[in-house]
Amino acid sequence: SSSTALDVVIFGGVGDLSVRKLLPALYMAHLHGNLPAHARIHALGRQTWNRTEFLAFLQDKVPGFIEAKHFRTDTWTSFLERLHFCSVDATHSEDFTTLATSLQPGSDRVYYLATAPSLFVGICAHLQSAGLIDERARVVLEKPLGHDLASARQINHDVGQYFQEQQIFRIDHYLGKETVQNLMVLRFGNSIFEPLWRSPFIKSVQITVAESVGVGSRAGFYDGTGAMRDMIQNHLLQLLCIVAMEPPVSLDPDAVRDEKLKVLRSLRPMAVADVARDTVRGQYTAGASGGEAAKGYLQEENVPPGSTTETFVALKAHINNWRWANVPFFLRTGKRMAARQSEIVIEFADLPFTIFGDSPHKSVNRLMIRLQPEEHIQLQMMAKEPGSGMKLRPVSLNLDLQSAFTERRAEAYERLLIDVIKGRLTHFMRRDELEAAWAWVEPIINGWQQLGEKPKAYTAGSWGPAASSALMAREGSAWLEEA
Ligand code: BG6
Repeated sequence: SSSTALDVVIFGGVGDLSVRKLLPALYMAHLHGNLPAHARIHALGRQTWNRTEFLAFLQDKVPGFIEAKHFRTDTWTSFLERLHFCSVDATHSEDFTTLATSLQPGSDRVYYLATAPSLFVGICAHLQSAGLIDERARVVLEKPLGHDLASARQINHDVGQYFQEQQIFRIDHYLGKETVQNLMVLRFGNSIFEPLWRSPFIKSVQITVAESVGVGSRAGFYDGTGAMRDMIQNHLLQLLCIVAMEPPVSLDPDAVRDEKLKVLRSLRPMAVADVARDTVRGQYTAGASGGEAAKGYLQEENVPPGSTTETFVALKAHINNWRWANVPFFLRTGKRMAARQSEIVIEFADLPFTIFGDSPHKSVNRLMIRLQPEEHIQLQMMAKEPGSGMKLRPVSLNLDLQSAFTERRAEAYERLLIDVIKGRLTHFMRRDELEAAWAWVEPIINGWQQLGEKPKAYTAGSWGPAASSALMAREGSAWLEEA
C-alpha cells in the first residue's frame, strides 16, 4: 500500500542504463508525485564511495538525461534525498548483509537487475541468504535475457528458484512506449478495424524499427549479440504479437500474455532454405548520418577485425493460423539507417475489380502507425481528383497523437517502473513467452551459421542492403519509403 515503505534496489545502479534511463525515469516519477512517500532508491556498485562522492557522481551524470523543461533544482534536491549508495559486489555474499541493514524495515522491495545475466543467479541466492526475499518482493530482469533458447531457459530456471513467476518482471521497454500501448486501443477500442484485421483483407504487414545511431561505444556488448538478438527477438516480435494476437478477454496479465504466446507459437519455423530465401543480414559500411560522416561498423571502437556481426536484419515471417494464413509479416531493423523511424504498416488487399478505367487494381489502402520519432496514424485512401472526369489520387486521413493530446507523455521506463511498483504485470514478458520467442529465433541464427554467408554491406545512412528491397519486391510489395 502507499503508506508502506518502498526500497528500490538497483544492481548496476551506477551503470549506463541506470544513469541514462532508470534514474531519470525515477526522477520524473518523483516530480509527478508518483513515488510513494517512503520510497528510497539504492544504487549498487562496487565503488567504495561515501555519500558526498556518490552525490557528486549523480550530479555530474544524471541531469543531462533529464529533459531541460522538467529539470527543477528543488525537485532534484528532494529527489537526491531518496537516493542511497551501497557498495556491493554482486559476487560477495557479505555485501548483502550490509545491504540488508540499509533497507527500511518491513518495506516492499523491488530488485532491479541491470547487470550481465551471468550475475542473476548469484544475486538471487545472496538476497535469499540475507533474508531479503519475501512474497512481496519483486525482481526486474533487464535484457539480454539469454543468448539462445538454452541460456534463456537457464535464466528462467535460476531466477524461478527464488521468485514466483508473478514476482518476476521481464522488461521489454518497447512495451512501455505510449504508442505501443495505444496499438491495443486502436485494435480493441474501435469496432471498425477488427473485422478487417485478418486475411484476406490484409495483404501484408511491415514492422520497421530503424535507428540512425551506430553501435557507439557499445561494441563490447553488441558484437557478440547482433541485431537479431538485440532487437528482433524481443522488441520486434513483441510488436508483431500485439498486431497479430486475438482479442484478449481482459487486460489481466495472463489474458494478454496467453494471446501473445499463441502468436509466438504459431510463427512458422524456418528451415535453412527459408533462412536463405526469406532473411537478409546486413552490416553498415562508412557513409553519412545526419549530415556528418559516419564510420563503418568494422571501424568502430572495439569491433574485432573481420567481425561478421549483423547490424541489420530484414525477414519475412508467417503466422500459421486461420487469421493470418498467407499474410507475410515483414520485419526490419538496423543501425545507421537513413532515419530514426519506427512504424507498422498494414497493407490492405487489392481491389477485386475496378470500374475506373485504367486506374490500377492495386490498393492504396494502408494504415500506417508511426511509433517514433513522432506519433501519428495515417489511413491512406483513394479520392477523386477535383474536376471533370474521374481521375483518382491517393490521399490520407491523418491523426497526429501529439496534437490530439496535450497531456505529458512519459518515457517507457517511467511507465514500466511505476507498473513494477504497483505490481502490474501486463506489460512484461512471461517465462513461456520469452522461451517461445527464442525457440523461433534460434534456428534462424543457426541457419545463418550453417550458410556461412557474411552480412551484406549497406552504406551508413541508407535503408539497408539492396537484398532487403528485393525480398519485398518478390512478394509484390515494397518498404513504405520505397513504395
Ligand atoms: C535496446 C537495444 O534494447 O533498444 C539498443 O539494446 C537500441 O541497441 C534500443 O538502440 C532502441 O530503443 P529506442 O527506445 O531508442 O527505440
